Amino acid sequence: MLAGKFVTLGITGSIAAFKAANLASLLSKTGVDVHVVMTDAGQKFVTPLTFQALTKNHVHTGSFGAPSDFHIPHIALAQKADLIAIAPATADILGKIAHGIADDLLTTIVMAATCPVLICPAMNVHMYNNSATQANLARLKELNYLIMEAGTGYLACGEHGQGRFPEPELIYQQIIQLISPAGDFRGISVLITAGGTREPLDPVRFISNRSSGKMGFALARSAATRGADVTLVSAPTNLPTPPGIRFIPVETAAEMQCAVVDIFPNFDVVIKAAAVADFRPAKPSKNKIKKDKDKNLVIEFEKNTDILMEIGKIKKPNQVLVGFAAETENMIESACQKIEQKNLDLIVSNDITLPGAGFDSDTNIVKLIYRNGEIIDLPLMDKLDVAGRILDAALLLHRQCP
Ligand code: CTP
Repeated sequence: MLAGKFVTLGITGSIAAFKAANLASLLSKTGVDVHVVMTDAGQKFVTPLTFQALTKNHVHTGSFGAPSDFHIPHIALAQKADLIAIAPATADILGKIAHGIADDLLTTIVMAATCPVLICPAMNVHMYNNSATQANLARLKELNYLIMEAGTGYLACGEHGQGRFPEPELIYQQIIQLISPAGDFRGISVLITAGGTREPLDPVRFISNRSSGKMGFALARSAATRGADVTLVSAPTNLPTPPGIRFIPVETAAEMQCAVVDIFPNFDVVIKAAAVADFRPAKPSKNKIKKDKDKNLVIEFEKNTDILMEIGKIKKPNQVLVGFAAETENMIESACQKIEQKNLDLIVSNDITLPGAGFDSDTNIVKLIYRNGEIIDLPLMDKLDVAGRILDAALLLHRQCP
């Protein structure tokens, strides 16, 4: 969806420049063609080589004499761009753009731009609050530049206040929204489950699985950037909550069941990426289980409810239900059985024995198996790209609903 979108990313001289590396990487991984332009001061904080490696594109550093893939760089980088983002933006560049000064490559690009320009300031709290900076920000808004407010918190200079560079994830989200105006999921509510549930044995121990939650979180982030109204019900993970979504944390399969079954009727598309424990210890101990030198510990397990099967029973014809299957053998046969038993529209099946597939990996190798028997074999892909393909399939199914 975003392949072929062109973003010119300006980096100016702020310590937050190192965080822009993460932003460039996130954009690049999503398929955006990122072209970085660094001011002289920006290059004092991070080297062009860092951005070149992350974006796989030449990094532009000067108006004159520097090598470039483009005939007239300041015009090409302005005119080819779907969006120009300046992140981080110093007080200096705010002042220059607000007053029409174009004395280096980045400011001349901005002057030649006809696409939206997003500016993300980052600086010391007193510099940010300075009336000249505030007047420049007001002037930039009048001139239709898009401004992301600086955050409030601890600043690299040791002070506390407004001036923090917005989190790269938030800037990423904002850029994606700006360059994908189609918002093909706008108006569609999506419920996603993620993570591996934890089933307590005693107050300090639990039984769980290897799920990292990465696939479910990638789905939530991707659906939100495409305009969906996203709710993510997640068992514990180490992942940051994607911005712009409703987040419901749970721990056990029983908690996930309560959270999901209650709200399920409100959703158009439901994707159950969570690795839900099939069994839980039948009698979790109130106190910590002590070791007994002579005896082994025998734990009795009882079955958890299959949440997907429960919601499959109450699914309406206008709802799309997508399940996951982690298999080690008989992948297709087993997936087809699950489609029938759980009343699914689509199952995302992965052979977790393959390298690069399944739990706790950044990549996945999956087959999309439809109710009508159609199978789409996807190659090894980044989980964010897999998420995009699953959402494409779910959207098509949603459009075919009565
Ligand atoms: N699932 C669920 N509730 C459970 C167990 C699984 O909702 N108690 C969902 C998972 O979120 C996933 C799908 O069922 O979408 C498949 O999970 P998987 O463990 O692969 O298959 P199972 O149906 O549990 O069958 P088996 O373990 O026997 O393969």
